[in-house]
Amino acid sequence: MTQKIVNHATRTEAISNFTKDRYVSRAYAEREWGRLWSETWLFAGLEQDVTSAGDYFVFEIGHESILVSRADDGRLGAFYNVCQHRGNRLVHSERGQADGFRCAYHAWTYNADGTIRSIPDRNKFHLGLPCQQTSLKKLHVAVWEGLIFVSMADTPPSLETFLGPVVDLLAPYRFRDMLITEDQTVHHYCNWKTIIDNFSELYHVDYIHPQHQRFVDCCNDQVDLFPYGHTGVIVEGATVNPRYPVPVEPTDILTEQLKNLDLDPADFNNRVPDIRRAVQLRKREIGPARGYDYARFSDEQLSDIWQFNLFPNVIMSFTPESCWILRPRPHPADPQQCYFDKITLTLFPDSALQAAAAANGKSGIAPGGREHEVTHFMPGRDAKADYTRPERDVFDHHAILSGEKSMTITIDQDIELLGGVQAGMRSKGFDRVWLNDDEIRVQHFHNALDDLMEAP
Ligand code: FES
Ligand SMILES: [Fe+2]
Repeated sequence: MTQKIVNHATRTEAISNFTKDRYVSRAYAEREWGRLWSETWLFAGLEQDVTSAGDYFVFEIGHESILVSRADDGRLGAFYNVCQHRGNRLVHSERGQADGFRCAYHAWTYNADGTIRSIPDRNKFHLGLPCQQTSLKKLHVAVWEGLIFVSMADTPPSLETFLGPVVDLLAPYRFRDMLITEDQTVHHYCNWKTIIDNFSELYHVDYIHPQHQRFVDCCNDQVDLFPYGHTGVIVEGATVNPRYPVPVEPTDILTEQLKNLDLDPADFNNRVPDIRRAVQLRKREIGPARGYDYARFSDEQLSDIWQFNLFPNVIMSFTPESCWILRPRPHPADPQQCYFDKITLTLFPDSALQAAAAANGKSGIAPGGREHEVTHFMPGRDAKADYTRPERDVFDHHAILSGEKSMTITIDQDIELLGGVQAGMRSKGFDRVWLNDDEIRVQHFHNALDDLMEAP
């Protein structure tokens, strides 16, 4: 049982410990704002929310609010969400469609491309109103695979340079074709990096996610380290954790996965290690009839779960059919709090592919119509024609503790635990974090953070 490490980055020296101030100190958080958040590319939202002229959404990060909008000429723009007259917050709704943006205070009105459209009593501004200074202040904006990134930096590297090898590695997944099927935000009582650390190692999985041994192998994972602090991990799915005795019968979760593919779980009694290969072959066989094109994926990608963390605060966990985008955002004032988003993207069946398969005598009706609670799989969703974008559900982490809300069993387990990590880190009885080799992705992230924080 070994972890394989593929290092694409140039900076390799390991750090094994660091002091806790980065999680608890206000001074650190303030410096982090200037050194990190203001200087890097940030995932703001999804292009599918701004497809038509006049579509917009607002991205809140720390104390900033960024307005992303589609102009009449089809161009995407990102602007600080602040009126240039006397600084009022311009747009308050989370997303929508508008013919320009009108400030509630004195009615200065802006076009979707950020330019000023009208100023009441303009002739009374005797000292003049230069157009470029009255238009909304712009940020850099770029799109990768339907994900919109913005940057407050003066001269950021191109988004492609920033993402580096990740672009080619993830190309087959075509996130741009997936639709938002769930949109949640939890207000949590921990530093945003506490969440990143948690989703950067599998060391904790056996202890707080006991269900994982019933469907993934967290021992023989492949870790990828990239320039700019991005990391990846590939975990074999449709299998069991080899650290434990192999069960005679497929586990409950494997049983559900097999049934989802119209395979008989009883055929795998005493053959549980064969399930992963069977799943790969079966997906290739029935994919087109179900409306899924697997031709561009490797066999391993059909069974395994990939998780890539894009520096600084995006965690993507995905299979060919679905993706979770997890994003902790810093609180405007308090390093002990954050907002944690979970956006679920789902690839809907391609009806043309299904029709072509049916013409060849292959019909495939996906059973169930629901995703498994602990792992993404072939979802068997309804037709794309019935799709509506869900509203964002925003709640406090107490709603998870009480069971009123859920972000899936696994993420709930993490959320329940992380409040305790933050509380413990604040204690006088705790000084520094110690990291082992299984936490190399945590190390890699903090190396990249240190590069920014300690740069001259
Ligand atoms: S602050 Fe916006 S119009 Fe005055
Ligand atoms: Fe976890």
